[in-house]
Amino acid sequence: MPLVQWGPEMIDQEVVDQLSFLEKKVLLALRDLRSASPNEILASAKLNQLVEVMNAASWLQAKGLVNIDEKVTRKYSLKNPDCVLRTLPEKAVARTVLETYEGSATTKQLKESGAFSQSELQIALGWIRKKGWGELSKDDGETVVTLTKKGRDALDVDGEDERLMKRLAEEDLAEEDVSTEAIGQLKQRKDFLNERLVTERTIKLTSHGLEIVAAGFDIREEIGQLTPEVLSTGGWRDVEIRRYDIDAFAPTIYGGRAHPITLLIEKIRNVFLTMGFTEITGNYLESAFWNMDVLFTAQDHPARELHDTFYLSNPSRANLTKDSELVDVVKQVHENGWKTGSLGWRYEWNREEAEKTLLRTHTTVNTIRRIAEDPKLPFKVFSIGRVFRNEAMDSTHLPEFVQIEGIVCEEGANFDMLCTVLREFYRRMGIPKIRIRPAYYPYTEPSLDVEIFFNGQWMELGGSGIFRPEVTEPLGVHRPVLAWGFGLERLAMPVWGLNDIRDIYISDIDWLKKMPQI
Ligand code: PHE
Repeated sequence: MPLVQWGPEMIDQEVVDQLSFLEKKVLLALRDLRSASPNEILASAKLNQLVEVMNAASWLQAKGLVNIDEKVTRKYSLKNPDCVLRTLPEKAVARTVLETYEGSATTKQLKESGAFSQSELQIALGWIRKKGWGELSKDDGETVVTLTKKGRDALDVDGEDERLMKRLAEEDLAEEDVSTEAIGQLKQRKDFLNERLVTERTIKLTSHGLEIVAAGFDIREEIGQLTPEVLSTGGWRDVEIRRYDIDAFAPTIYGGRAHPITLLIEKIRNVFLTMGFTEITGNYLESAFWNMDVLFTAQDHPARELHDTFYLSNPSRANLTKDSELVDVVKQVHENGWKTGSLGWRYEWNREEAEKTLLRTHTTVNTIRRIAEDPKLPFKVFSIGRVFRNEAMDSTHLPEFVQIEGIVCEEGANFDMLCTVLREFYRRMGIPKIRIRPAYYPYTEPSLDVEIFFNGQWMELGGSGIFRPEVTEPLGVHRPVLAWGFGLERLAMPVWGLNDIRDIYISDIDWLKKMPQI
C-alpha cells in the first residue's frame, strides 16, 4: 500500500470527507477568487488569523487541491521617512555657492559661513563632483568649488534620487518598481535605506480543487478533540467530529537503536535459555592445547597451520603447568590412544606445539573447558562468542565471526536427540527446514554438518557431532556428549535476506535505521 494517498486517484467523496472546517472555508473563498494572496483569503473567508489560512492552504496543497506559489522580492524603505523634509547636503552647499558666492567658493569660505559641518561639507563635495554639478580646483592651497551649468540647473528641480526618496516616504517599494541607478545612489548614503526580502504567496485552485468546489459540500463547525465536557453535556451530538486520515504521510523518526546483531544474539540466547540451557563464556586468547590438542586434533592437522590460525607473538607461550596431569594424558591419547581403546595418531606429541598461543578458532574450546572444570552429569550449556580464522573474506566468509556453541550430556542423550535439538533450535529461529549431512571433525564421531537451502544452493550453517572418547575419557566423562558450533552471521543471512555476509558489518546507516528491532 502506498504511503501517500493524496491525489486525483482518491475518490472525491473521500476527499471531501477529509476536509477540515478551515480547509472548506479557504476552498470556498477560492471558488470566487480562484487565485489570491493569503491576506485576500483571510478577508474573504472571514477567518481570524493568517496562520489559519496558511495551515489550511498547505494541507490543501498536500491534497492536490491548491497550489501555493512563492515569489521572493527585495523591498526598500527609508530608515527615517523625515529625511525627505531636509535638503540633500550637496544641494544645500551648491545653493550657498550660487547665492552667496556667485557660483564659485573656497571650502574655507563655506566653512566660515557656519552653515555646514566639516563632515557635511565633505559629503556634499563628493556628491557635487559625482553628479557633475561642480568642478573642484586648487588655488593657493585652497579647494575651490565652481558650479557647472548642470549644477545651476539642478537647483530648481528635484533629482531622480529626491523623487525616489519622496515615493519611498509614501510607501515601501519593490526592486522592480525603482530605477537601479537612483536606488544605487541612495544605497551609497549612510543609514538611509532598509532593504529586506519579502516572500509573497499566491494560492490558486488546481483543476481538482475546482471540481471539488464546483460539486459543493456542507460546511459545519467541527471539533478535533473529544473533551469530557463535550461528552458529558451531550454536545457531541450537534457537532461534526473531524475525521482523521490514518494513511496520511508522516515522516519516520529514527531514534537510537540496538545493532541488529545484538538483537539476534539476544534472541538466540532466549531460545537456548527457554530450551533449558545455561550460558557460559570464554576468552579470545587461548592455547593450542585447549583449542586443539584436548579436542584430539592432530598436531599436523591443516587447520593448525599459520594460514588458518592467528598465532600470537606476545605472549607466544602458554603456561600449561597447572594442567600438567591432563597434558600428560592428552599426550598419550595422541600418541597411542591411552585407555580409550583408540590407537591414537601414532606420532610423537610435541608439547611446544601445544603451548602456542592463538586467537580461538572456535568456541568448542569454551565447552571443552567447561567439561574439564566440572565433568559431573548432566550438563546442557551454550556459548555465543567471537572466533578468528586466518581466511580470505568473501560473500559467505569473514575472518572474525560469532559462533553459537552448545553441548548436551544427560541420561539418554543420543544421535536422535542431537538431530532434534538442532532442528528445534533452527525452527525456533524461524528456519523450518535444515539439511543434516555426514561430515568430518577430528573430535566427533559421528560428525554432521547443518545446511540450509539459500539463494538456490545449500549453505553450511555449522558443524556438529558426538565427542569421541579420545576427547571425553581424559576429562572423566564416560557418556556421549552432543556438541555443535554454528555461525551466527550465516544464520543472519537468511533471517534478514542478505546475499553478502559482509553487509552485516559495513554499517550502512540506512540499513541499520530500517532493520526491525525484534
Ligand atoms: N568447531 C566446529 C567448527 O568450528 C563446529 C563443531 C562444533 C563441530 C562441535 C562438531 C562439534 O566449525
